[in-house]
Amino acid sequence: MSEPLVLGIETSCDETGVAIVRGSELLTDVTASSMDEHARYGGIVPEVASRAHLEAFLPTLDTALERADVDLSEVDAIAVTAGPGLVGSLTVGAAAAKALALGTGKPLYGVNHVIGHAAVDELVHGPFPERFVSLVVSGGHSSLLLVDDIATGVRELGQTLDDAAGEAFDKVGRLLGLPYPGGPHVDRLSREGDREAIRFPRGLTAGKDKERYAYDFSFSGLKTAVARYVEGYQDRGENVPAADVAAGFSESVAEVLVTKSLAACERNGCDTLVIGGGFSANSRLRELAAEEAEDRGITVRIPPIRYCTDNGAMIAALGSALVRSGAAPSSLDLPTDSGMP
Ligand code: KG4
Ligand code: ZN
Repeated sequence: MSEPLVLGIETSCDETGVAIVRGSELLTDVTASSMDEHARYGGIVPEVASRAHLEAFLPTLDTALERADVDLSEVDAIAVTAGPGLVGSLTVGAAAAKALALGTGKPLYGVNHVIGHAAVDELVHGPFPERFVSLVVSGGHSSLLLVDDIATGVRELGQTLDDAAGEAFDKVGRLLGLPYPGGPHVDRLSREGDREAIRFPRGLTAGKDKERYAYDFSFSGLKTAVARYVEGYQDRGENVPAADVAAGFSESVAEVLVTKSLAACERNGCDTLVIGGGFSANSRLRELAAEEAEDRGITVRIPPIRYCTDNGAMIAALGSALVRSGAAPSSLDLPTDSGMP
């Protein structure tokens, strides 16, 4: 087969994404988001997200086909997020993908959303090296992956034991009275603070935890430490040094993510770290990763931010890699799995 034409569908959270790739060339990527509807609740409301996918799917698909100038009958395969994610949201995308596969007679590939966050980088920065480490960080996940083959050889080295990095930022944003989602606001505020003024704990980096949880993360103790610190000021009726809190907190998260990712590279003989997920917009993470990796001769690849947040391109990219690897398609009764490892 010449380079396969693959349609990718992503509906695991609040973004309805449809993209088309030919091989590893992105033809189009269209996203509709229901974030505005969730912002007033201060968090994602699963029922609202599911309904929004239902309403957005067909217009998003039509726009993608039109922009790529592709007829549905030309598509070689249909890839869809099978998990992890919100069960109702996943179900809408999977039902749509199955209907398209059944209607066109084309094979269906159910794919893992977290691996998709790494896979999308191939569309941007070209072929992957033989082996690399990927850090996937967002509001829902913080995982370290060891990748020998993006389609068939991905192993999870570790993940967060409690909050995801973005989630911790959103919670600290709320503590500091910033709008939801707080991540970008805390990041902006941190640039005005002194990152050495307050030293917050670095989760799972000391003592026995350092070896036992070498590639796992924990941000909930850090979040509690920040809450206690802020409450101390509030109890005394003093102004919270918000910029220093944001800077100290950001430093702790970035340092832990970067240290563990680079240790994973070095111990597994990898000279490339691919970072993905919406949290990779974080300025301190980018800065520290670039600095520390350069010292160790490791290349850091981060796709532009529009491909780091949830989108269809990541699913089309992984679907295309599966087709090219000769992997067997999924059956039409493909189950969704909200807790997919
Ligand atoms: O991947 P994404 O768009 O959605 C999820 O799958 O979660 O990631 C969004 C998460 C949110 O928690 C958001 O606050 C956080 O990433 N985030 C940031 C920044 N930009 C987005 N956190 C810290 N600094 C940023 N610049
Ligand atoms: Zn995601």
